[in-house]
Amino acid sequence: METVRAKVLYNQAETSSVYRLGLAYDAEARGARPARFLTLRFDGPTPHIVPRPFSVSDAFVHDDYGPVTEVLYKPLGRVTSALTRVRASDNLHVLGLLGNGFPEPAAGHTPILCAGGIGNAPFALQVRHLLAGPFASAPSRVVLLLAGRSSSDIYIQPWVREAGITILETTDDGSRGARGRITDLIQTHWSNWTRPELYACGPAPMLHALQSFAIARGVRCHLSTEERMACGYGVCNACVVESRREGVPEGHGDYLKSCVEGPVFECREIYA
Ligand SMILES: Cc1cc2nc3c(=O)[nH]c(=O)nc-3n(C[C@H](O)[C@H](O)[C@H](O)COP(=O)(O)OP(=O)(O)OC[C@H]3O[C@@H](n4cnc5c(N)ncnc54)[C@H](O)[C@@H]3O)c2cc1C
Ligand code: FES
Repeated sequence: METVRAKVLYNQAETSSVYRLGLAYDAEARGARPARFLTLRFDGPTPHIVPRPFSVSDAFVHDDYGPVTEVLYKPLGRVTSALTRVRASDNLHVLGLLGNGFPEPAAGHTPILCAGGIGNAPFALQVRHLLAGPFASAPSRVVLLLAGRSSSDIYIQPWVREAGITILETTDDGSRGARGRITDLIQTHWSNWTRPELYACGPAPMLHALQSFAIARGVRCHLSTEERMACGYGVCNACVVESRREGVPEGHGDYLKSCVEGPVFECREIYA
């Protein structure tokens, strides 16, 4: 797989902690699935050697731009902060698509998409694919939970809000939606959902809590992990997660490379 240069179409702040970046890059032609990812690197005043991984947040064809790949990111450290200064017409080095991505929900199951903070990133594309497929005539059966510390962490692309899906929000400080954690929100609404199947992306404590919840309830739950990565394609071992097997205690399992065997794992496969 080759790194290509892709033109930046837009790069704008949506909230104080969420930026939206559009690239002239055809993710659908490269096998887009929600929670598959690409790596980004750029030249400039703060060059960096190790590319950073980002989920494909959305992929669509724009009337003027043609195929667009959208990335949501949170300025956190060196590279993501420098990314905020990238302008339209700049070029980024892009490698991807990488990783496996979320599977489709089993027949008759209700997809419950659980986003913690910038873990909202893969869900616009998942909503797009679900509404183009099995939920085309029943969009409200797709449930998207947006959780964050406060209102600035709550974001999803405007078209998703208008797509007729069910969106529920919660913040730790109650500044938007219900007050509490995503697991509280799930408990509140659990009995309304037919055969829920959970899809989760967010901070490690949230993935851990959802894993415990899903195992206790006996439901399927797909976790999109965010291990730190270097190569992104299986050669450096930077990104391993421990596999979980019945009878094998934590700390004694084998390791899986989350860049190639993940980043999505069913919650019974790993220790989150
Ligand atoms: C498969 C995958 C998909 C991702 N998708 C997105 C996305 O869509 N949008 C987005 O904003 N971010 C995403 N991330 C995380 C993103 O890659 C990191 O935020 C980025 O690498 C940070 O780079 P930096 O140079 O800004 O931060 P650094 O200067 O490298 O680090 C700043 C701080 O962030 C911490 N940090 C760095 N990487 C991670 C990580 N992976 N998990 C937890 N803490 C980390 C560091 O320990 C440090 O405290 C994804 C990560 C993975 C593995
Ligand atoms: S990031 Fe190098 S093996 Fe996964």
